[in-house]
Amino acid sequence: MTKQHKTPIFDAVKKYFHEGTVPFVVPGHKKGNGLPEFKEYVGANVLGIDVTCFPDTDNICNPKGVIAEAENLAAEAYGADRAYFLVNGTTAGIQAMIMAVCKPEDKIILPRNAHKSAFGGLIMSGAKPVYIEPEMNREFGISMGVTPEKVEWAILQHPDAKAVFLVNPNYYGTASDLVKITEIAHARGIPIVVDEAHGAHLKFNAGLPISAMEAGADLAASSTHKLIGSLTQSSMLFLKEGLVNPKRVKAALNLTQTTSPSYLLLSSLDVARKQIAIQGKELIGRTVELAKWVRDELKSVPGIKVFGEDLVGQPGCAGFDPTKVTINVRDLGLSGYEMEKILRSQYRIQVELSDLYNTMFLITLGDTWESVTYLVNCVKEIAQERTYDNVIKICPPVPAIPPLSISPREAFYSPTRVLNLQEAAGEISAEAIMAYPPGIPLICPGEVITQEIIDYVNILKQEQADLQGTEDPNINHIKVVDLAATKELADEEIYTQSV
Ligand SMILES: Cc1ncc(COP(=O)(O)O)c(C=O)c1O
Repeated sequence: MTKQHKTPIFDAVKKYFHEGTVPFVVPGHKKGNGLPEFKEYVGANVLGIDVTCFPDTDNICNPKGVIAEAENLAAEAYGADRAYFLVNGTTAGIQAMIMAVCKPEDKIILPRNAHKSAFGGLIMSGAKPVYIEPEMNREFGISMGVTPEKVEWAILQHPDAKAVFLVNPNYYGTASDLVKITEIAHARGIPIVVDEAHGAHLKFNAGLPISAMEAGADLAASSTHKLIGSLTQSSMLFLKEGLVNPKRVKAALNLTQTTSPSYLLLSSLDVARKQIAIQGKELIGRTVELAKWVRDELKSVPGIKVFGEDLVGQPGCAGFDPTKVTINVRDLGLSGYEMEKILRSQYRIQVELSDLYNTMFLITLGDTWESVTYLVNCVKEIAQERTYDNVIKICPPVPAIPPLSISPREAFYSPTRVLNLQEAAGEISAEAIMAYPPGIPLICPGEVITQEIIDYVNILKQEQADLQGTEDPNINHIKVVDLAATKELADEEIYTQSV
């Protein structure tokens, strides 16, 4: 038995439960006795180990016991110097990473297709974004990674940048050349911070894109819950010592994380780490095999194109994760959204995401030959029943990044007013609009709203895309910076200071 067979957190909560400890602590449900209907459905064990921090279970804010032990095992399994368990998702990790490397007004270089949690990190830290346009695949209308050349150019233009933020791989599975980009940034003493929400499995299969820690990145936040086995919301943050101060990372995490972590989440991280450390090669190998079979089957279906491996080597795609199976259904005369609806309503299949052209299926270690065969058969049946003479949807290129007028944080804290979106061209947005998933912003707080963006939102609405980000759930209205009120406030401040 190796160290990786241990599960210190899981063992501690099981011991607590099985010893019949009498709880006079939170949570108030006390082993589920206070919530019998729920206990009956989910089971006594689940509620019995739903505890939070006390001496036997350690303290997430400053771990010295079982959490510290479990985090050290995770660091070893992922080739990091330190690991931190996250119970508020990778979102909390991304916000903490940005806060750890940037203070207000510092610059951070990041791809425009970063997840919305990175934009939250900009607001929380006060950092100023220097965006890099990701490469686009026009056929699929999908964004890919960023090129080393663009990152180098951004660093040359902004040598004072405090970090380069990357996504590895992106939602659709494409990976930037992380090794080269890390070399470029490190040569100038700039740390690499990675959103690895879709990368918890990478290290365990040589055919997958390289993981952030293996590529030499300084920080990476990884959604253990997305692509391997832990419970939803549980993630990990990894650190390589050198350019980033671990104390800053811990301090930032203590701002973004709860003080009452769920031990269901923490112990699921513990067990998922053990599983992937010990059986990762075999499990991820099998997952890749299943995914490749699905890809090959779907490639042979008339009217369906499969996004993927053939892109490796093109700008912005140094590697590809085949477990993200994205199919383009345009030639079936369907939008991705319509494909999703058919699969959901007629076949009880829930897909990971869809957009104007595409639908994505996620294949993971939870899949079997049976589940993937069902998926392939259902997609084939839908394709066979289609006539191919339907109108093909038109998807104009994603609008250009609008000019940044003020920092995201300034916009977030400015006086605002609400406008009809159709009349908002030329105003500074105080909100983001995302097509979600995959969470690519069309506009971010602090940027000037353009007519092109309004037109694009109108097209997405016609397609019933899932648009989010504004207070108005229907995206008919948008909050913009109230420049007159901002000026009045500034005048008042000057007056107060001078009296
Ligand atoms: C690229 C990317 N980054 C970050 C996140 C946030 O991760 P989490 O849901 O674990 O908070 C997501 C979630 O979908 C994502 O797709």
